[in-house]
Amino acid sequence: MANDIDVLVSEVGPRDGLQNTKQFMSTEYKKRWITAAAAAGLREIEVCSFVPPKLIPQMIDAAEIVAHALTIPNLTVAVLAPNLKGALRAMEAGAQKITLPVSVSHAHSLSNVRKTPDQMIEDARRICEARDELPKDKRPKIESGLSTVFGCTIQGEVKESEVLRMAVASLEAGCDEVGLADTTGMANPAQIRRVYKLVQAEIGERMAGLHIHNTRGLGLANVLAALDIGVRTFDASLAGLGGCPFAPGASGNIVTEDLVYMLEAMGFRTGVDLDKLVAVRNILTEGIPEEPLYGYVAAAGVKGSDCAVATAR
Ligand code: COA
Ligand code: ZN
Repeated sequence: MANDIDVLVSEVGPRDGLQNTKQFMSTEYKKRWITAAAAAGLREIEVCSFVPPKLIPQMIDAAEIVAHALTIPNLTVAVLAPNLKGALRAMEAGAQKITLPVSVSHAHSLSNVRKTPDQMIEDARRICEARDELPKDKRPKIESGLSTVFGCTIQGEVKESEVLRMAVASLEAGCDEVGLADTTGMANPAQIRRVYKLVQAEIGERMAGLHIHNTRGLGLANVLAALDIGVRTFDASLAGLGGCPFAPGASGNIVTEDLVYMLEAMGFRTGVDLDKLVAVRNILTEGIPEEPLYGYVAAAGVKGSDCAVATAR
């Protein structure tokens, strides 16, 4: 991590958010969003996913979006790819980081990628082999994004031993790092601490960040618990957009603006200008006017001066 920030806030709205919105956001608005988010100080943005456009039409312009994001200085251009074909498309487009959705829940894995978790690991192996054939300076970082780590709305309980097994298998398959995702927003702070530490004890430095959804209102409480045990990378989504269309009941990510507010208020440096970040919401209001936007800080006003709006909510 750059030494002028303490916590890396990774914006996933253009991917996790837009995969779940009913309204299509045009390519021009996506580009404006990404440019403005980077100008507000975000250093990593998951800009799209390389999925079949038939399945998620919103992602039809993925390669063009990556090409645009690559023109922005000091930005890590991250994407999601659910299979070998998607990862090859992502590498061809020049993505700098590829996250693979490796579901620990058998049932969610089948629903999301039509493969069992173990079959997904085999895909990860093939993807990493393809990466290794690229010249060294063109190789993207590959993260195994373990999903439904803290519970699954289809399967119910997800065994911690399985989380550990999939983390180790991901690294053996060639992934660079492993992140933990609360896809369904079922995690609680005690569980966050326990499971993160369990996996970290096994894979140490190759642990990546946390991807938290606020489905049950525990998002920032979970962040706080994770901060206490040293986690310094968090995914979040502008205006709390997001959710997995293949996990029933899943809703938005933690709100980037609220996360930045909390971190900065606690003395962590994020590199993000909160006023500029809140202003980026205007691009969503124009680009996808029918989608509900969430977030406490935007409602209250960054300096708390906009209380009328907050009261009126
Ligand atoms: N990008 C573009 N096209 C793709 C593709 C990709 N990543 N993967 C497959 N396709 C195409 C195939 O070429 C094939 O095309 P054809 O019908 O013209 O021959 C078609 O899609 C079906 O391919 P198949 O390999 O049978 O895929 P599938 O239908 O079993 O779907 C996944 C598997 C993984 C591609 C799909 O389930 C998926 O995209 N899941 C991810 C969903 C998601 O984004 N969830 C939220 C994020 S966690
Ligand atoms: Zn998510």
